[in-house]
Amino acid sequence: MTTRKIGIIGYGHLGEFLSVELKNRQEFNVVKIWNRTPIENENVLPLDDITDETLKDLDLVIEVAHPQIVQDYAERILNHTNFFIGSPTALANDTTFNIIKEKLKEFPERRVFVPAGAFWGGADIQKMADFGTLKGLTITMIKHPNSLKVLGELDELCQRSKKTNTPTVLFDGPVRLLCPLAPNNVNTMAGAAIAAHNLGFDNTRAKLIADPAYVDF
Ligand SMILES: NC(=O)c1ccc[n+]([C@@H]2O[C@H](COP(=O)([O-])OP(=O)(O)OC[C@H]3O[C@@H](n4cnc5c(N)ncnc54)[C@H](O)[C@@H]3O)[C@@H](O)[C@H]2O)c1
Repeated sequence: MTTRKIGIIGYGHLGEFLSVELKNRQEFNVVKIWNRTPIENENVLPLDDITDETLKDLDLVIEVAHPQIVQDYAERILNHTNFFIGSPTALANDTTFNIIKEKLKEFPERRVFVPAGAFWGGADIQKMADFGTLKGLTITMIKHPNSLKVLGELDELCQRSKKTNTPTVLFDGPVRLLCPLAPNNVNTMAGAAIAAHNLGFDNTRAKLIADPAYVDF
């Protein structure tokens, strides 16, 4: 059996979970973990250790930190190995998206993985996009205001929804515009815009609703 050498960027909920799960499987060997805050006694290294030298022997790098990490490190990672993007809201940034596309042209054997998240049925949507039969896609996400970490005007609407105990539409428009305003909450929508590749981030529609009644979701 081939053992794949894995590097993980981010050591929060997902990073810690993945490092434990992957260490329990023979087919994976977690050889590097990097994080904004290094942890010496757990061999969690600082981000400035992500170098050409440390990346070159890995089979896959898993990002589970922040979209900014994808923007900062995608090019360097793809020069050496495959890349799993846990924060795909980063791909709403055209510069980052195009850098990744160019790298995949330069290294056709490389793979970039985007998780489906909660987007069940994503593979079918992708097939429809492949055939060009997908004509439109709207994703509605409803969350309790406390579960939302949104920015700017969306935050004001979210707070008002909580105060007034009223369901409120925070955003209705292209996924591309929502991603930077809710980078932690709409990874699933970004994954959907990738699957619906004939529509993309501009024509996949996002509806984000804060609903104080959603206490058990
Ligand atoms: N694809 C999905 O369906 C899905 C699901 C859940 C979370 N996520 C995304 O995965 C990422 C990790 O989620 P989590 O629940 O483990 O988060 P978390 O907050 O528990 O952990 C994030 C880790 O990344 C580090 N970090 C945060 N901001 C950073 C920055 N700007 N630069 C460098 N490091 C930074 C933190 O120090 C922490 O160690 C987030 O971006 C989150 O939005 C994706």
